[in-house]
Amino acid sequence: MRMTAPEIALTARFQAAFVAAFGPEFADADPIIRPSQFADFQCNAAMGLAKRVGAKPRDIAQRIVDAVELDDIAEPLEVAGPGFLNIRLRTDWVAAQAAEMATDERLGVPSPAPQRVVIDYSSPNVAKEMHVGHLRTTVVGDSLARTLEHVGHTVIRQNHLGDWGTPFGMLIEHLLDVGEDSAEAALLATDPNAFYQAARTKFDEDAAFATRARARVATLQAGDADTLAIWSRLVDMSKGYFHRIYDALGVTLTDADLAGESTYNDALPGVCADLEATGQARVSDGALCVFPAGFTGRDEQPLPLIIRKSDGGYGYATTDFAAIRRRVDELHADRIAYVVGTAQELHFQMVFAAAREAGWLPEDVEAVHVKIGSVLGEDGKILRTRSGASLRLMELLDDAVAKARGVIDELQPELPEDERAEIARQIGIGSVKYADLSTAHDSDYVFDMDRMLALTGNTAPYLQYAVARIRSIGRRAAEQGLVPAEAPRVVDPAERALALQLLEFGPMVETTARTLEPHRIAAYLFATAQAFTGFYEACPILKEADDEVRAGRLALAALTERVLVQGLDLLGVEAPTRM
Ligand code: ARG
Repeated sequence: MRMTAPEIALTARFQAAFVAAFGPEFADADPIIRPSQFADFQCNAAMGLAKRVGAKPRDIAQRIVDAVELDDIAEPLEVAGPGFLNIRLRTDWVAAQAAEMATDERLGVPSPAPQRVVIDYSSPNVAKEMHVGHLRTTVVGDSLARTLEHVGHTVIRQNHLGDWGTPFGMLIEHLLDVGEDSAEAALLATDPNAFYQAARTKFDEDAAFATRARARVATLQAGDADTLAIWSRLVDMSKGYFHRIYDALGVTLTDADLAGESTYNDALPGVCADLEATGQARVSDGALCVFPAGFTGRDEQPLPLIIRKSDGGYGYATTDFAAIRRRVDELHADRIAYVVGTAQELHFQMVFAAAREAGWLPEDVEAVHVKIGSVLGEDGKILRTRSGASLRLMELLDDAVAKARGVIDELQPELPEDERAEIARQIGIGSVKYADLSTAHDSDYVFDMDRMLALTGNTAPYLQYAVARIRSIGRRAAEQGLVPAEAPRVVDPAERALALQLLEFGPMVETTARTLEPHRIAAYLFATAQAFTGFYEACPILKEADDEVRAGRLALAALTERVLVQGLDLLGVEAPTRM
């Protein structure tokens, strides 16, 4: 766990005290500083040290109290229970930390040693609807990309588009049948699922079409120029669709980040040849397979990863091996994060294990599967439309924006039409994204549009409203010619509680970048907005008569605004100017 600024300061002081009281061998002893409900923090080291030193915990606690120099940081320590040390920070120390944070452009976000991190995310399949599951991998992956970049890593986004494989035979034949200028073909750019379904139905019902489709797969794989040209137009139409969704979502993926499965075609024979050469791959039931150590199925039989099917075709895993080689050898990744559904857990474990055995994934390159849980309907099953088809994403986003329009119309009926439309967009899109981000990425959650759009609870509108409220205070202050103080005021208990919460921002961001868990940012922002409410209820700002107090509170509010806006930005959620 990354320590907050007070924890870092306290740890250093306690370790110095351990050396003074017990000897140099205690220099690295963990002071076990934890947040406490009785004070700000506790030092829980006395019990453990008592065993090492051979004395009673309470006596040890007293010796620590005598040795530790904390006068500038904390109030005099209290020994509690068997030997806990209650630590209450000096309010002027908290104030000094907050003042420093206010002058820091990075708001106390540390910069760890920079790494090159490949993030594989979104990765929808061409000519099939991008479904809610892809929406979640897109939104979570994008937040991770933003957060890792913010702490100073080099992020290489990779959209591993599903743009190759046997379905393209039937898709190409269907496109040739309907004609590229037809209304049916136009569906590729608006409702790709409908196009896919039409091709699929024909394939299942029309034997002659199925034969043509199979022959087309062969010509495509043989690299026939005409077939490749149609394939590439088909892929382009689909890309247009994905990018409209990315634009609507405000996702940072661009064409430059596309590295679809087809880009690895030329590398696939080499993957197989190399795995055969090392003896890792062998033919089993006509298919070339690898059997990474440690994976067994029923009857303790080793589990295979198929890399070349009996018909000579390559599979999903083969492409993933080629992708790993490129990511390590050419993109020079220190870390590769795969933001993909939980269902693919075994696939990734086996691919990572086999790639390590092959020497393609060296010890010092970390590969992680950031498992994404399912988005469920109210019936607890994967979210679908009533007809059973997977939900159309554009429709879902439009729906969220339309409902958010109701929220802003009620809050700010006086605002001009175009401004309300823009705020509705920010709230609607923000709500859908925040629902994905505020739940632990590997948990399932029930999609509930009304709850996502609520102004109370851990939602985007609650946080957006908190920002808008601070901004409105700032605007009114400016109108009255009031200028915030340089340093936030940290005197009253509610000011102090808010300041302590703000000081956790930097370490929280660093932890998120390490653990790849955006819901930590969401939980932090929710707690911060609540601390602000507590402060605002207890401490008047504009109504405060004392100039100095008012200016100091304006500065505390301004620092809160910066933290909330920066945190929301790491999640990819916009903060409206008013609400
Ligand atoms: N296209 C795949 C799917 O929709 C996800 C690809 C994930 N990335 C990867 N390198 N396998 O399930």
